[in-house]
Amino acid sequence: MHAIGGKRVLLGVCGGIAAYKIPALVRELVKRGADVRVVMTACATRFIGPATLQAVSGHPVGLDLFEPHQEGQISHIELARWPDAVLVAPATANLIGRLANGLADDLLTTLLLATTAPVLVAPSMNSKMLEHPMVQANLKRLAAIPSLSVIAPDVGELACQETGPGRLPDPDQLVEALARAMSPSPLSGRRVLVTLGATREWLDEVRFLSNASSGRMGFTMCRSARRLGAEVTAIVGAVDVAPPSGIAVIRVESALEMEREVNNRIGEADIAVFVAAVSDVRPLQRYEGKIPKDDLPDTVPLVENPDILATVAHLESHPFCIGFAAETSSLEDRTMAKCAAKGCELMVGNHVGGGAVFGKEQTQVVVVDSNHLYARLGPADKETVAADVWNIAVELFQRWQRSKATTAEGQPDA
Ligand code: C5P
Repeated sequence: MHAIGGKRVLLGVCGGIAAYKIPALVRELVKRGADVRVVMTACATRFIGPATLQAVSGHPVGLDLFEPHQEGQISHIELARWPDAVLVAPATANLIGRLANGLADDLLTTLLLATTAPVLVAPSMNSKMLEHPMVQANLKRLAAIPSLSVIAPDVGELACQETGPGRLPDPDQLVEALARAMSPSPLSGRRVLVTLGATREWLDEVRFLSNASSGRMGFTMCRSARRLGAEVTAIVGAVDVAPPSGIAVIRVESALEMEREVNNRIGEADIAVFVAAVSDVRPLQRYEGKIPKDDLPDTVPLVENPDILATVAHLESHPFCIGFAAETSSLEDRTMAKCAAKGCELMVGNHVGGGAVFGKEQTQVVVVDSNHLYARLGPADKETVAADVWNIAVELFQRWQRSKATTAEGQPDA
């Protein structure tokens, strides 16, 4: 459990039925020693009285951008600078839409754009509204911003008597998410290198050998590392999705180019994550121009590509290496065997087959090293899985570093 005592929490409350749970949340935060200030949208006041939130938080509630200051009230600029973290709960479709479009038309949205503190958004609404493509698109835009996190709503019975996703998580979960967001960044000052996307191995100027990797999981790993404070560089092959903000992106096409770019930077990396779907082979020869259809060879001789991960992981001085494997059967055993064969410190095994994983939003993985199973994760969205993979990886990386330091200290002098 992360500590929350002494922290400043700004709570933004919107007009959703789950607003009735907010006094209990404020009480819990205050009980654990947090200083809590509340800002409500106009709609929120139709669900719950500001006087209640003022009483439980011990501060006047912010309601209006232009209201004359009450005693104890601070200006919206001071309020934006004040918190260690901001939680918007319940976040309605309306608030999510306004924030995703950068609108600042009331006190809460103005604060959300003005603050530099981490912002957590906890959507809560009717399942049909939550699943609407527009709401989903807006949530995706929010999740792509490194200083912003979306807390997945719980599934269950909703106030509208429907059952599905859309419930506001319990106060305990919200408090823990806030505490995590305010804890020191475990990868701050660390450099993380990530390979991702598919490589393209050209036969001529228009034809290539490749695969269906979308780059989604790779970019999600980058975003998650960024959130933990790392400086992230991504070596990116062919992808279907845009990179998140706040990371350095180097575009490549072939495995050989990817290898070159990795080699140029590997000496500076503390952690290297290999999510790229590197083609195992490439055509022996790349032809100039386009081979006319009638001249296409009956067979195309192939040569093996270098295994970038295995090469890096076998360097005498190498970063903490995390590999990704895709397997169709015996996931755990095969991923452990692959981890041992490649020599990496940690391996994430994806179950593929039947259209699973590539390009999809959800995934299911095992996290192993060559002889331990650390976790089975999912099925869950790639964002959640990446965050959980990093939780495990950060702990193992820190342990790995300590053991390297101990070994170095124990070396006899030359
Ligand atoms: O051997 P396989 O392709 O299943 O291994 C997958 C892992 O190895 C991934 O982490 C991938 O990025 C990495 N790899 C690599 N270079 C290759 C092949 C795979 O870095 N040529």
